[in-house]
Amino acid sequence: MYDTKVIPCTEGDIATAAEFLKRGEVVAIPTETVYGLAANALNTEAVSKIFKAKGRPQDNPLIVHICGLKMLNGLVASFPETAQKLAAAFWPGPLTMILPKSDKLPSVVSAGLDTVGIRMPNHRAALEVIRKSGLPLAAPSANVSGKPSPTRAEHVYEDLEGKIPLILDGGPCEVGVESTVALVLPGSVRILRPGAVTKEKIEELGLKVETDPAVGQELAEDAEVLSPGMKYKHYAPKADVILVKGPLDKFAEYVNNNAVEGAFALLFAGEKHVVSVPGIVYGSKDKPETQAAGLFDALRRADQFGAKTVFARSPDTAGVGSAVYNRMLRAAAFKVVEL
Ligand code: TXA
Ligand code: MG
Repeated sequence: MYDTKVIPCTEGDIATAAEFLKRGEVVAIPTETVYGLAANALNTEAVSKIFKAKGRPQDNPLIVHICGLKMLNGLVASFPETAQKLAAAFWPGPLTMILPKSDKLPSVVSAGLDTVGIRMPNHRAALEVIRKSGLPLAAPSANVSGKPSPTRAEHVYEDLEGKIPLILDGGPCEVGVESTVALVLPGSVRILRPGAVTKEKIEELGLKVETDPAVGQELAEDAEVLSPGMKYKHYAPKADVILVKGPLDKFAEYVNNNAVEGAFALLFAGEKHVVSVPGIVYGSKDKPETQAAGLFDALRRADQFGAKTVFARSPDTAGVGSAVYNRMLRAAAFKVVEL
């Protein structure tokens, strides 16, 4: 058991975090997407502590975080032209590239795959921790496996208190949904997980973009998938979430007709008054960025309120809305009602 400390992101705190990481400890750090649970990617024992603290399946690979392109040396076997183009456009930022793995990188990081996910986060404290420690940091989202990703230091504490020594508190995450995961191919990419770097934004670079079928549909636990994370039940609060598609009046009618005990509605700002059950706002209807930033916190609040059933308003899928929809669908374990 650890006596988990939560510290801010002053220069001194970042130096402390860097020291912990150099000693082979795990530290939760803020990024622009969600909080990550970081460890030295080059130290097998340190990386194993991540899997243990999260209760993460051993076959689910981790993303390695870097602060500059020089760090790629020893992590990837090659950095093809398409990757260079993507890095120039989106790094630092919420894009994880799946690239051929270097033999020097311990296999525990990539869960035995011959590829590795790399990302340069767009967050001052995250970049400074990497720079100060001089280490590439393996970091999955800092939640207990299966729970919604943490977008505030309090969420990390809720999940990992006693299991990790240190949390760097950088306040709420700006983006709120995890990075876009993209398999890099010659002249094209395949999106394995949608995020704030959207299909449309990547296409603007003149690259062909495909979305992996696993993004939009349920997979069997034993399915062969490119991104192992996609097969696990994800982002799920304790409550049963039902994703309800349709206009607001139909949504209200459906919720009010099915207002069982413990029912809550997850909806947009200004909509609480149309339902007879308590409402939790997760963003503004026409601002997908606000939905991305608010979704995971709203799911966690539903649990805190003791929600048994959550009827969720479906987001539009334009822009980062596609990532919001993808996470919602998983929180709902693919239970969708179309009105
Ligand atoms: O925004 C983010 O990406 C956050 C912050 C902390 O950077 N990290 C994050 O990591 O969401 P995690 O481990 O929770 O999700 C990583 C996803 C998983 O679905 C995993 O299966 C997939 O990326 N992934 C990692 N390495 C892969 C690889 N070599 N091939 C295919 N998928 C990979
Ligand atoms: Mg995760």
